Amino acid sequence: MQSFMALAALFEQRFNKRHFPAVPKELYDAAQYILQIGGKRVRPVCVLMGNELFNDIDEDAYHVAAAIELFHNFSLIHDDIMDKAPLRRGLATVHTRYGDSSALLAGDVMLVEAYEHINKIKPAHLQRIVQLFNKTAREVCEGQQLDMNFETRDAVSLYEYVEMITLKTSVLLAGSLQMGAVLGGAGLGNQQHLYEFGKNLGIAFQVQDDYLDAFGDPEKFGKQVGGDILSNKKTFLLIHTLDVANAEQRKELSALMNTNAEDKVAKVLQLFRDCKADLWADQLKEKYLGIAMQHLEDTAVLSARKEELINLAHYLFQRQS
Ligand code: IPE
Ligand code: IPE
Ligand code: MG
Ligand code: MG
Ligand code: MG
Repeated sequence: MQSFMALAALFEQRFNKRHFPAVPKELYDAAQYILQIGGKRVRPVCVLMGNELFNDIDEDAYHVAAAIELFHNFSLIHDDIMDKAPLRRGLATVHTRYGDSSALLAGDVMLVEAYEHINKIKPAHLQRIVQLFNKTAREVCEGQQLDMNFETRDAVSLYEYVEMITLKTSVLLAGSLQMGAVLGGAGLGNQQHLYEFGKNLGIAFQVQDDYLDAFGDPEKFGKQVGGDILSNKKTFLLIHTLDVANAEQRKELSALMNTNAEDKVAKVLQLFRDCKADLWADQLKEKYLGIAMQHLEDTAVLSARKEELINLAHYLFQRQS
């Protein structure tokens, strides 16, 4: 199997173009903008890897990869409105630059464009891919709703958090790998193992995202550090801190969650550190990485072919952006 870098470059050769007409400029420039400001392209590479694990890359895999990356970027535009985020990939978010209305519509039109790509798949796989794509897309919406619901809830359990991040983030990585596997002709058992590999890797990926949102280097992260704290997101950091805090710390944290004081982020970060929530990230990531690796091991393919998926897991585990 080819490396992440090689596959990302192959994807980019096809994807790096203008995807939309010129007018209305406010709509299509907004959609084009987010596609052109970078992004790691993790999910399209997952589609290609899922395919290449079992077979030579089929042209259909590039269609699915494009659809998934369009869907991902659509979800990011809407997510940034919901999260009131000023920065994405080191630049202004779409709604900050083009306004909420254009940003919402740009997201909508990108979802439509995603289906244009799905529609190019050969008939033999079309129905199965549409089914997997739709299931995944629906779950992402469910996860995003839970994420928003949790903002105004005082307590969220670790179980609920994992369920929420599984839906909003992991299923897209899992689905990308599975759709690639379908196109590569994998049997159902192998598809399921690869899906579970992606799902558990995706949980570790979102744990790392939540860690970086609090403790990341703003230069590398490309998003506003502290944004989750400002929105009272129920991340594992907050859940763990509430869990182990003494009465005084818990009272302080509750009070901070009800303010918009200028020093809110700094003070919450201090409580996270005092309660060693930052150190807990590694344990949590290790747990899900371990489950992911077990499923990769159980995938019935020669070990040598799996090497790049192991590299992918380590890259995502340690990512700083
Ligand atoms: C951001 O995903 C959204 C999350 C699920 C955390 P990525 O970190 O893959 O974003 P890009 O596409 O590389 O910018
Ligand atoms: C968002 O999670 C997941 C989706 C976009 C579906 P986050 O809200 O943590 O993603 P970022 O940090 O803004 O990229
Ligand atoms: Mg967000
Ligand atoms: Mg969000
Ligand atoms: Mg985040």
